[in-house]
Amino acid sequence: MKSSPHRHTPAIIDLKAIQNNIKKMRQHIGSKADLFAVVKANAYGHGAIPVAQSVHDLVDGFCVSNLDEAIELRNHLITKPILVLSGIVPDNADIARSLNITLAAPSLEWLELIVSQKTNIKGLKIHLAVDSGMGRIGVRDAAEANAMIELADKNGIIFDGVFTHFATADEADLTKYEAQKAKFAALVNQLSRRPQYVHSTNSAAGLWHADQVQDIERLGVAMYGLNPSGRALGLPFDLEPAFELKSELTHVKTIHAGDTVGYGATFTATEDTIVGTVSIGYADGWTRDMQGFHVLVDGQFCEIIGRVSMDQMCIKCEKHYKIGTPVTLIGKDGAHEITAQEIAEWRHTINYEVLCLLSDRIYRVYK
Ligand SMILES: Cc1ncc(COP(=O)(O)O)c(C=O)c1O
Repeated sequence: MKSSPHRHTPAIIDLKAIQNNIKKMRQHIGSKADLFAVVKANAYGHGAIPVAQSVHDLVDGFCVSNLDEAIELRNHLITKPILVLSGIVPDNADIARSLNITLAAPSLEWLELIVSQKTNIKGLKIHLAVDSGMGRIGVRDAAEANAMIELADKNGIIFDGVFTHFATADEADLTKYEAQKAKFAALVNQLSRRPQYVHSTNSAAGLWHADQVQDIERLGVAMYGLNPSGRALGLPFDLEPAFELKSELTHVKTIHAGDTVGYGATFTATEDTIVGTVSIGYADGWTRDMQGFHVLVDGQFCEIIGRVSMDQMCIKCEKHYKIGTPVTLIGKDGAHEITAQEIAEWRHTINYEVLCLLSDRIYRVYK
């Protein structure tokens, strides 16, 4: 989707906040582990390239979700190690090797397909994925893992790491987390040899189990200043949210009792009501279920009324503001604040999803 800088609905990204969060996490986990910044999904909506460039000197590497995200980083002179976390289609391994991009290796079958491609894969680096209980990708037993190591060795593929991913590191109940940890440790113990990197921790595990970080901390949502647990667990240190979403009023009018607003005419005025229009809608990732939530204008909460359309929505205003009056959708205005977490709760989802869904049409500006 085309970015729309002339629309005055920007996301304002605080790169300093991201840097501060990384520094705090570094202090929290100590210096023995490498820290990889997870910048997949356009750095959780914050902009992969500006974020990666601004934190390049603070981290040891980057994690992305697919090969295109990794190539984009390399094209923008990101020289540190890059690990692709999801399984990629096997016929692209040659591209990964040529750009020194490390791939997650999800299974023996996948590695056999890589080898059978007959492209140049000598020197390709892989991190063997272990499914210790997440159920997405990875081997479940040591025999398969060791067969992969043997196949990699035979074909000049570098067995650089082994990793797993926790399903419940952001929860107070540690039963599943401990079971996954034990399963991963047992499998790593049975490997024919230990690679350079053994890793398992995401933001939640790094925050609440810092002593268990192994060779790499894969730091995602916490570097953007969000609590991975929502509100379930208290943070061991303060994080600084890095994302503000702003807009401005494009139209203001008074409607009268009986007048309706939006598709489906779901809002009917019962008295004279001042209605402001804001240029944001579900095509921006500002979804229809935001009806009934609020934004900030002039330091006051204003209710979103009527259905959110594709490109616009309406709010109930305290007074007749001028066109161009600022509207805060995420962030502070005066004494009040709207957080991604509050929006997530309104929508019955997680803060990650709120930011990742905000589309490219919202242009990103950087503090
Ligand atoms: C394998 C893996 N590691 C690390 C992360 C980062 O997780 P978080 O954003 O919770 O730190 C993710 C994110 O989904 C992931 O899939």
